[in-house]
Amino acid sequence: MISNFVTKRFHQRIDFMTQYLALNCELGLLIGEKHLLQGLVENMLKEDDVTAVAILDQNKNTLAGGNRILPGPFEQIRKNVFSSSGQDPLNWVGGMKKNKNPEIIGAVKITYSIQGITELINTMKIQVVFSTLALILVSCLIFYFISRSLVAPIVSLSETARKVSMGDRDVRAAAGTTPEIIRLSRAFNNMLDSLAQGRKTLVRTYEKLTRQQALVEVGKFSMMIAHEVKNPLGIIKSSLELIKSEFNIPDNNLLLSYAEEEIVRLNHLIESFLMFSKPAKPQFEKVDLNRLLEQIVMGFDIQSSMAEIKLDCRIPETKFEAQADFDLLTRGIGNIITNAYEANDRKGVVIISVVEHYKVDKTAHKWELFIQDQGPGISPEKKARIFDPFFTTKSTGTGLGLAFADQAIKAHGGNISIELPKSGGCCFCITLFSNIREPEVLKVYDTDIDS
Ligand SMILES: Nc1ncnc2c1ncn2[C@@H]1O[C@H](COP(=O)(O)OP(=O)(O)O)[C@@H](O)[C@H]1O
Ligand SMILES: [Mg+2]
Repeated sequence: MISNFVTKRFHQRIDFMTQYLALNCELGLLIGEKHLLQGLVENMLKEDDVTAVAILDQNKNTLAGGNRILPGPFEQIRKNVFSSSGQDPLNWVGGMKKNKNPEIIGAVKITYSIQGITELINTMKIQVVFSTLALILVSCLIFYFISRSLVAPIVSLSETARKVSMGDRDVRAAAGTTPEIIRLSRAFNNMLDSLAQGRKTLVRTYEKLTRQQALVEVGKFSMMIAHEVKNPLGIIKSSLELIKSEFNIPDNNLLLSYAEEEIVRLNHLIESFLMFSKPAKPQFEKVDLNRLLEQIVMGFDIQSSMAEIKLDCRIPETKFEAQADFDLLTRGIGNIITNAYEANDRKGVVIISVVEHYKVDKTAHKWELFIQDQGPGISPEKKARIFDPFFTTKSTGTGLGLAFADQAIKAHGGNISIELPKSGGCCFCITLFSNIREPEVLKVYDTDIDS
C-alpha cells in the first residue's frame, strides 16, 4: 500500500513537471525561439530522475533537447503543447482535455529513470519487513517476560505444594511480586502453618495418649506385683522377729539388720507403687499452706540434724489458706525436697522460699513455692522425661517421686515447673491456688483393680 502511494506520488510529480514544461514552451514554440526552449530543457534536466528532455514542433521535429546519464530502467512521458489563445488560462493546465478543439503547436517528451523510486520502494519494503520482525520479536519478548512474571510464582507455589505432599513440612512459598500472588502465597503459607500446628497437636495428643495407656498397663502390672510381694514380705518380716527372739539374737546382728533394712526398702518401694498406681481420692479441707510447709521442713530438719546439709527456709508468717489434701501435698512436696537433698549429695544448702500473690481486694490468690538446690542441674533431655513414671538416674531410685508429686499437685489444680538458675543447681517451682481450680484428676490411674 505504501509502495503504491509512493509510486503514484512519483509519477504525479513527473507528470506535473512535464505539464509545467509544456505550459512554459508555448511561447517559445509560437515564436520559434530555440534558445528559450533549450533553456527550459536545461532547467528540466536539473530535476531529479530526469534523464532526457525533448521539445518537438507540430511536425515532430526536435527544436530543443538534451540528456544526462542516469542508470535505468527508464520510462517516458509525452505531453502536447497547446496554444492558449482564446482559452481560459486558469483552465488550461488542468483542463486541457475538456477543451473541445485545442490547437496543438508542439509536444514535450521527458524520459526519466525509475531506478531511484524502485530502490526506494525496495528499501522501504526491507525496512517494513525488518520493522515488522523487530516488532514481533519485541512483542514476543514482552509477552514472555510478562507471562513469566505472572506464571513463575504460580509454578513455584505448585512446586511448594508438591514438596509438602512429599512430606517436606518446613518448606514455605516465596513471597511473590504482584499483590495477588503475595496474598496467595501468604494464604498458602498460613494454611501450611496451621496444618503444621494441627499436626504437632495431633502428635502430642497421640504421644500423651500412648503414654497414658502405657501408664495404665504399668499401673495394673505394679499393683499385681505389689500385691503378690506385700504379703510374703510381711511374713518374712515377722518370721525374722520370731527367729531373733527364739534364738536370742542381739538387735545389732549385722546380717539380720541387713535383711531387715532390705525388707523396709522393699516395703517402701511397694508402697510407692501402690500409692502411684491407685492414688486415693484427694480429701480436700481448708489447709494453711505455709504451716503445711513448715511441718514438712521440720521433718527434714530432724532427719538431717546430723548431716552436713542445711535447709534455708523463707516461709511467710502469714496464713495462706487453700482447699487441699494435707497428706497428698505433704508427700508430693516431700518428694521434691528429697530429690533436692539427693542432688546436693546431702551437703550444702537447699533454699526453700514462698512467694504469695494476692488479688486487689487482698484475698489470697496464688502460692508459689521454690525449692532450689546446688546439684548438677538437669539437662534438656532429662528435663523432658523426669516426670515420667519409672524414669530414674539413681541406682536405688524408683523413678516414682516426681511422677507422684506431679500427680498430687495437678490433683490440686496447680502445676510444677523447673528453672535452671545461672548460679547452677536446679529450682523446682510449685504453684498452687487458694481456690482449687479444675483439678486434672488423674483418672488414668484410677482403674478398677482390686486392692
Ligand atoms: N533436684 C534435682 N536435680 C537433678 N536431677 C533431679 C532432681 N530431681 C529429680 N531429678 C532427676 O529426676 C529423676 C526422677 O526423680 P524421681 O521421680 O524423684 O525418681 P528418683 O528420685 O527415684 O530417681 C531423678 O532420677 C533425677 O535424675
Ligand atoms: Mg526422687
